[in-house]
Parts: sequence; C-alpha cells; structure tokens
Amino acid sequence: MSPPRTPREPNTPSLAVNRYPCEIRFQNLAFHVPKSGDGGLAILSDVTGVCAAKRMVAVMGPSGAGKSTLLKILACNVSGGELQGQIMVNGTAVHPKVFKNQSAVVWQSDVLLASATVKEALMTSALLKLPQSMSRARKEERVEQILTELELQGVKNHMIGEDVDGAVSGISGGERRRVSVGIGLVTDARAIFLDEPTTGLDSDSAEQLISLLSHLATHKHRTIVLTIHQPSSDICERFDDLILLSSGRMLYCGPWPEADNYFATAGFERPGYRSTAEHILTLCKDKEYAVPFLAGQYAKSLIDQQLTRLDSQASMGALGLGLKRGGSVGRLSRHNSITGGTEAGKPLARGGSLVIDLEAQAVASPQPGSAPATISALAARHMVAGALQSVPSNALLPDDIPSTSQPHVALEEVATSQWYQVHVLSVRFLRSWYRCPTNLAIQAGQYIFFALLIGATYWRLSGTVTGGAFDRHASLWFVASCMVLQPGNNACTIMYSQKPLLRREISNGLYHYSSFFIAKSLTSLPFQLMFACIFTGSVYFLVGYQISLVKFFLFFALNFELLLISETLGILCAGLARNELVGMIILATFYVPLLMFTGFIQTHTPVYLAWIKKLSYVAYGYSGLVKNEFEGLSISTAQGMHVPDATALIAPNIENGLSIGTDALIMLGILVGMRFVAYIQMTLAIKFHKL
Ligand SMILES: Nc1ncnc2c1ncn2[C@@H]1O[C@H](COP(=O)(O)OP(=O)(O)OP(=O)(O)O)[C@@H](O)[C@H]1O
Ligand SMILES: [Mg+2]
Repeated sequence: MSPPRTPREPNTPSLAVNRYPCEIRFQNLAFHVPKSGDGGLAILSDVTGVCAAKRMVAVMGPSGAGKSTLLKILACNVSGGELQGQIMVNGTAVHPKVFKNQSAVVWQSDVLLASATVKEALMTSALLKLPQSMSRARKEERVEQILTELELQGVKNHMIGEDVDGAVSGISGGERRRVSVGIGLVTDARAIFLDEPTTGLDSDSAEQLISLLSHLATHKHRTIVLTIHQPSSDICERFDDLILLSSGRMLYCGPWPEADNYFATAGFERPGYRSTAEHILTLCKDKEYAVPFLAGQYAKSLIDQQLTRLDSQASMGALGLGLKRGGSVGRLSRHNSITGGTEAGKPLARGGSLVIDLEAQAVASPQPGSAPATISALAARHMVAGALQSVPSNALLPDDIPSTSQPHVALEEVATSQWYQVHVLSVRFLRSWYRCPTNLAIQAGQYIFFALLIGATYWRLSGTVTGGAFDRHASLWFVASCMVLQPGNNACTIMYSQKPLLRREISNGLYHYSSFFIAKSLTSLPFQLMFACIFTGSVYFLVGYQISLVKFFLFFALNFELLLISETLGILCAGLARNELVGMIILATFYVPLLMFTGFIQTHTPVYLAWIKKLSYVAYGYSGLVKNEFEGLSISTAQGMHVPDATALIAPNIENGLSIGTDALIMLGILVGMRFVAYIQMTLAIKFHKL
C-alpha cells in the first residue's frame, strides 16, 4: 500500500471554503419503476444511511446494484418511478428545487455543447450557477482554477466537438470526462454528486481527480458523493466513507477504514491477497448468502442503535415506556407527532397513535443462514419508517459515522435572474451559429437551391391567362411549400440535437426553460430573417412576379410568417415525442393536411373537413400570396384581349374572402398561439420528465 499523499493545495483562493457544509441523511428509501405484468420493479429497498458533511463517500456495488439510482435520488434528480422515503439535509427535509441549486451533479455520460470551447463550457456553467452578485473576474478566476486542477489548461481554447460513437472530432474522451467534472465543480455547490467520474480516465488522471475531490471535501467543506467501479488502492485511500449496495439493499454505510473490521466481525474476513475494494465486490457477488446476511446485519445495527437510544430515553423517563431488549418481545406504544412523514410511514400518520411491535426474531442476532430478509423488512417497516422519525436523526447512523454538528442552515434559493439567463444563453446560441458556419451555409444553400429550382421551372411567367394564371398558382404553391417543409424539418432536427443538453442543464438547475425558449427564439430570428430574404429575393425576381415594392414586401412578409409558424410546428413536434423518428413522423403527418387544404390541389372542401382549412395557416398564407400576385395583374386572353386586373382568375377554393392584411393578422395570431402552445408543451414535458 503506498503512503497516503497530501492533497494538492489549490494555488488560488478562488475555491472559497463553503460556509455551509451539508449533511445528507436518507431514511427508508425505496424506488420502484413500473413494470408491465406485475406491481413494479424494486430498484432500491429500505435504504438508510448518511453522507456526512466535509467527507467524500464512495458508493460501491456491482453493476445494477442501484448506485446511480441512489445518487439521482439524493441529488433530487430521479424520475420515471415511485420514490418513497425521506431525505434530510442538515436535519431539514430536502427541498428539491433549493437543493438542486446548491448541489452539482456530474453524470455518467458526457453531454456537452460541441460548438463551445472547454473554457466556455465551464464559464457558462459558472455564469449560470454562481451568484449573479459575484464578479465576472472572480468567476473567470474560478474557472481557471478548475482548468488547472483538471489539467485542462492545454486544451482550454479547443472546441469540445462531437463524440459520435467514439468518432471524436474535438477533445479526447478523457478530456470530455474532465470537462463534465469541471462543469460540476465550478459551481459553489455544497454537495457534489458524481456518477463514475473516473470512467474513461487513465489511472493518473483518475487519482488526481479523486485527490481534488478529497481536497474539496476536507478543506473546502463540500460533501462529495460518488459512485465508482473497482477503484485502485491509491484511490481508495482517499475515501472517507463507503456506502455499499447490492441488489438495491444497503450492506454497509460507514467509514471506509472501518469496512474491513465490520465485514470481518460479520464473518467475512478479507484475505490478505485482496484489496478492500476487491473484497467487498466479491461479497456482493454472493447473492445467496453474503448479500442477504449483510443487509440483515445492517438493518439490525440500525435497530440496535435505536433500541439503545430508546432504552436510554426510557430509563431517563423521557418517554415513560417499558422496554425490554435482547431478544425478548418489546411492545412500545405512544402518541407521536411525526412531521414530514414518508410514504412508508403513512400508517404512522401525523399525530396518530404509534404502535411498534418488535418481534423476537427482529431483534435477535441474525445467524448466518437465518432469514435476514425478514429482519430487514421488519427493520424497515417498524423502525425506520416510523419510530426513528421521532428521535434525533443521528440515531440512524452506525455509531462510527461521524455526525455533523451543523446547525439547520436556512437554504435560500441561489439563482440568476431570468434576463441574465436569457443573456448568457443568447450569447451561447449566437456563438453556436457562427462557430458552425457549415450549418448556416447548408440551410442557406438549401433555400437558394429551391429558389433556383422554382425560378428555372417558372422562369419569366407567361402574361397570358392560359399558361400564366395556372403557373402563378402553382409556383406560389411551391413557394409556400418550401416555407413550410424546410423550416419545420430543420427546427425539429435542431431541437432534437439540443434536447440532451437542455435536459441535463434544466435538471441541474442551471436555468428555467422559459430563458432557453426566449433566448432560442430571439437568436434564431435574425437567421430566419436572412433565410427568408435570400429565398424570397431570389424566387420573386426569377419567376417574375409583379414588379412593385409593396407587393414584394407583402410577398416577403407572408412567407416570413409561414416560415416562423413552420419553425414553431417543428419545435412543437420535437416536444411531442422523445424519439426523433417519431417526432419527424408526427411532423410529416401535419404537412399533408396543411398543404392539401390550401385550395390549389382540391377544387372544393367538403363541409366536414372545412375546419382543417380554417386552422391551416398555410391556407391563409397561400391565399394571401395568390391575392397579392393577382390583384392588379395585367394579363391577356388567348384572343389577345387585355384584362387589367386578374383577381377574377383566382381559383374559388383559394379565395377566402379576406384581405391580405387579415390573412397576415390571422397568421400572426396563429404564430403567437403556437409559440405559446410549444412553450407550455415543453414546460409540461420537463415537469413530468418527458423531455
Ligand atoms: N427507469 C428504470 N426502468 C427500469 N429499470 C431501471 C430504471 N432505472 C434503473 N433500472 C434498473 O435498476 C437497476 C439499478 O440501476 P442503476 O443504474 O442504479 O445501477 P448501477 O448500480 O448504477 O449500475 P452500473 O454500475 O452498471 O452503472 C438496474 O438493473 C437497472 O436496469
Ligand atoms: Mg451506474
């Protein structure tokens, strides 16, 4: 075993000592996910323990043990299942929104913005998560500090780039991992949760990272909770505490150095040739014997502590109870005043009568081969769920876990203002646009291509009724179609590409969705305007519509409205389904009725389908475009007769009897309404974890 190394001292004071260390206690946590056929799959059962303040706890266990699930639950970031139990932060029931603001999570997979540089990624996180009152210079200083600590100085100005199935076009996989960790560390989080932070790092980088985390816990008073697989002995030396899980049950929660003794006392001595990490993981593999036994043993240790505490309280006459210990049946009955009751504790409702039967087998020492599951269940049902809530919370801890003496800290919500978030996100959106000129060029090229195609097909329209009238109708229909299909598809695809980062950042409490929505809408507007100008400017003069500034302006305005509504439709469809293919299919399904009921392809609209036409923004846009072109158009018949105004040639199913201004106003109303629906829809998706 190598000698313990001194954690590196940070060379700047930017990572200030956290004035409010936080201790996280969790009682009787159970998490079930719905499963077709039966009552659901239990991922965690009756998990009770503590993540002590100013310490680093390693959550270990075999794959599928529930480590990440526990981490998500403690970080108030779990979804998709039913959670029972209680989490206390410094003795107060956790307030998820506040706690999210005061903690940081580093997930197992890296979700990073490809178009940002390493420093920008950390800086955005610092700007959005650190208090607005802190100066930008101090935030930069903190970012530089983290870059140094994580050895990212060399690549700080490199673009992060994509990592598509291992084909990296930017920084390396290990560097991406460190950037993710840095994003979590850069905030002034009191608790930092990391899901397998060392995965993908070489042994030196892994050790260095763990060393930094240990330093943050000990010297900067952060509570560090991390999951880890098979750590090296050097890394293990840095751990203060261990939480050992197997099959969703707690096997041990206590100081790391005591783990060997604990398991040895339970009859599972560590052979000399195995490290502690190897030994405990070997124990977890024995699901027939060691796992149920250790789970029972852990539950019993909770019972013993509770009994000791109740005993001493009873002997002091505090509870006025008679209580026998040591394997005999004890009956405890009193009125309690439980506050913040858990699901599991529901039968023991507030102010209700609490009756606890401690059955003989529950308190008897479990022998190897006995039924520890029963003990665990009894412990959970009788002890943790109810009785323990009425006594000081440190009764839950194994005796040797240091308990914090932190007072209940009033947690205030530290968040940046909405407009500040909009500002930071707008800068990031704009940077993404100009950092990826190819994306811009491809979209602009697409519009130019369609304009040229329509222009070449309908080049210099005929001035006769025979060919000119139909070709005008047809070319305008294609123009309208381009303003529907392309923006819709592009917006839907872009939204899907932004969703993972949005999901991650929203769940980490970086900003509100409204800020993202406003910033996205504002920053995409100039580019959409540019695309509309390129397209309408090219097609209008190539096809040869009426030469009039007013008419061109109306042509542009109607097309721009079509484009913006279609963009909104794309965003809406991206919010309706989590799967991109499904989203695109939904969008395509909208296109058919939208384009069908413009009046160009059908000569009449059946009464029972008239509502589609009424709702179709494309019908209003197309009707407006046709009226704009035909009104005042001078055209001649086959016989050479001159018609000064071609309005009468507008197909009856296209003429909706409204003025062009009214068409434009209705479309504006539809645009505002659809933007609102898209916003609400995405907000609900976030709220119900369906983003
Ligand atoms: N939402 C869910 N729906 C269905 N099963 C789930 C869900 N979340 C977790 N599980 C299952 O619960 C178990 C624990 O998952 P979890 O990700 O917490 O394991 P883990 O200990 O982190 O594993 P690993 O070390 O492989 O990351 C796994 O068997 C997993 O398949
Ligand atoms: Mg995991």
